[in-house]
Amino acid sequence: MFDVERLVGNCRAALRESTPEVAVKEVVERAMARPDEIERVLGTPAAGGITTLHHSPELTVLHVIWAPGMAIYPHDHRMWAVIGLYGGREDNFFYRRTAQGLEQAGGKKVEAREAVLLGKSIVHSVTNPLRQFTGAIHVYGGDFFGVPRSEWDPETLQERPYDVENAKRLFREANERWRAQCAVAGS
Ligand SMILES: [Fe+2]
Repeated sequence: MFDVERLVGNCRAALRESTPEVAVKEVVERAMARPDEIERVLGTPAAGGITTLHHSPELTVLHVIWAPGMAIYPHDHRMWAVIGLYGGREDNFFYRRTAQGLEQAGGKKVEAREAVLLGKSIVHSVTNPLRQFTGAIHVYGGDFFGVPRSEWDPETLQERPYDVENAKRLFREANERWRAQCAVAGS
């Protein structure tokens, strides 16, 4: 049975392995193999948002729900990340840093029951292309909230310091947009 404490405990144990990020990916993959169990514990996704499940200097575990159709601008993490999905889909777009700024460099679709490992220097943007919520567990190999990071303006691709308030606003607006669409569809 899925259990948040067990997931965090297994991730913490994986940090002692020689390649912790690979070991954490295996832990997350095992959990994502049973999406129904995760939904039973964390609830059926009904609004976009980020909930912290664990936060310490060496490990951050987040429960992330992407609202239907929402997209987040390019950003980096400066630590490895394992992204596991238990519902919906995440389209990742990757970028390369150049002298002029950012340049698109491929992408990766992540589906429910899958987990991907993102390296320390990855810059990505994420879209939920579906008309349904996407439920994810994100595990980061460090203090996700304490490490200074970058984000890029979605239009100009200018780099600026990561601001968690921008991310919160994005989730709020995506939820409002989705609720308005549902209201129109239901009227
Ligand atoms: Fe990210």
